Amino acid sequence: MRIAVVGAGKMGLPLAAFMASRDLTVAVCDIDENLVNEINAGRCPIDEPGLPEIITKGVANGDLVATTDTVEAICQADAVVIIVPALIDDQYEIDLSVLESVTEQVAEALHPGLLICYETTVSVGTVRNVFIPLLEQSGLKCGQDFHVCFSPERVKSRMVLQRLSETPKVVGGFNAESCQLGEEFYSKALGAEVLGVGTLEAAEFTKLVGMLYRDVNIALVNQISRYAETIGMDLGRIIPAANTNGEAHLLYPGIGVGGHCAPVYPWFIIQDAQRHGVDLTLARNSRQLNDGQSEHVVTRLAGEMNGLQGKRVLILGLAFRPQVKEPAFSPAFLVRDALVKKEAEVYLHDHHFSDQEIADFGFRAGQLDSADGWDAIILVTGHRRYREMDFSSMAAKGLKAVADGRNLWDPEKVRNAGLIYLGIGR
Ligand SMILES: NC(=O)c1ccc[n+]([C@@H]2O[C@H](COP(=O)([O-])OP(=O)(O)OC[C@H]3O[C@@H](n4cnc5c(N)ncnc54)[C@H](O)[C@@H]3O)[C@@H](O)[C@H]2O)c1
Repeated sequence: MRIAVVGAGKMGLPLAAFMASRDLTVAVCDIDENLVNEINAGRCPIDEPGLPEIITKGVANGDLVATTDTVEAICQADAVVIIVPALIDDQYEIDLSVLESVTEQVAEALHPGLLICYETTVSVGTVRNVFIPLLEQSGLKCGQDFHVCFSPERVKSRMVLQRLSETPKVVGGFNAESCQLGEEFYSKALGAEVLGVGTLEAAEFTKLVGMLYRDVNIALVNQISRYAETIGMDLGRIIPAANTNGEAHLLYPGIGVGGHCAPVYPWFIIQDAQRHGVDLTLARNSRQLNDGQSEHVVTRLAGEMNGLQGKRVLILGLAFRPQVKEPAFSPAFLVRDALVKKEAEVYLHDHHFSDQEIADFGFRAGQLDSADGWDAIILVTGHRRYREMDFSSMAAKGLKAVADGRNLWDPEKVRNAGLIYLGIGR
């Protein structure tokens, strides 16, 4: 079986290399020529455990090739997997431009018998109502001459290969035959359990509901954490106890939710529901509540420090997840904005990024051991490196308060260094 994977990004490249490692012939397509050259040289351009080995092997034995010629790769393929980004605009509306342009290329290369699998998360009905009409402009009929399925990627960066083989692959199709073909394809290509859910819409909905659950769950504990802070209870000790009955599955509170998924995908469902006359108030409020955590923490800090005007504040962490060099929708941006509103002097440290990269994302780079010291630090990312901090020496240089946005530190240890400690729900 010959497969074309369109999009050699953090999700598409591991998927392509994983399929190639299972003795399938894979062409991974991307518009980025440098990326394509790197892959064809057997080098791995992203930080993903296990990926360098299978790229080197796949390229060496000819099972994996990268190309900028998407149309030609699809002409040669039995199946094409599309995994390029869908974006979100200022009005929280989904931007399908990249997916539409790739779909037009697929239409150009469409040939009888081709199976087309969309993996990028989109709102319910997008594949049937937007992409299939574009594909049928080829003159071929969906469900007869070619088949389309939707199978959401449900992996996580730095765990992609493990998740590809372990997470059940949800598949829905244009019709029953399309779904069946999609199930057979993924079963062979990934070797994972495949879960056929019937229609394209069911598969689109499955991914969105999973994300929405996560966001609402986090919003619930974030809101409760404000109550816990007020009455002097540590929610972090309550949650594990509450979760022991098999009915509660509470997640943990924090300074905000970042990444490509949680801050974005709920809007795909909220906005579409609105168009259908349904106001998903819980989902909408959850998004706002999670985004509001950064301002809540900064306000508490300002309260403890008699305002933040002119105070030197260091944000720890730009990455949205520990040990990942990925700033997408990081709460660090919202924390910065809240601090700027309070007229603080804002700096950021994250050892995964160079000073120039930090500047490019709109921050002033700061060092943990700055000779001038800091008035306050705010932890955004629970990087391993931040677990052990020398609070006493930071206090000696003028540090007064610590806002622990990930409940990473022992409050007593911080207080023993003479500092104010603020945790989330503590
Ligand atoms: N990165 C994550 O942790 C993560 C996690 C879950 C879901 N996702 C989702 O997976 C999808 C892909 O995300 P990603 O992280 O791989 O994105 P990415 O930005 O890492 O990669 C996207 C790739 O697509 C390429 N591309 C853009 N336009 C193209 C075109 N017309 N033809 C061919 N290639 C093109 C880009 O050059 C880039 O290499 C998105 O829907 C994203 O939201 C990502």
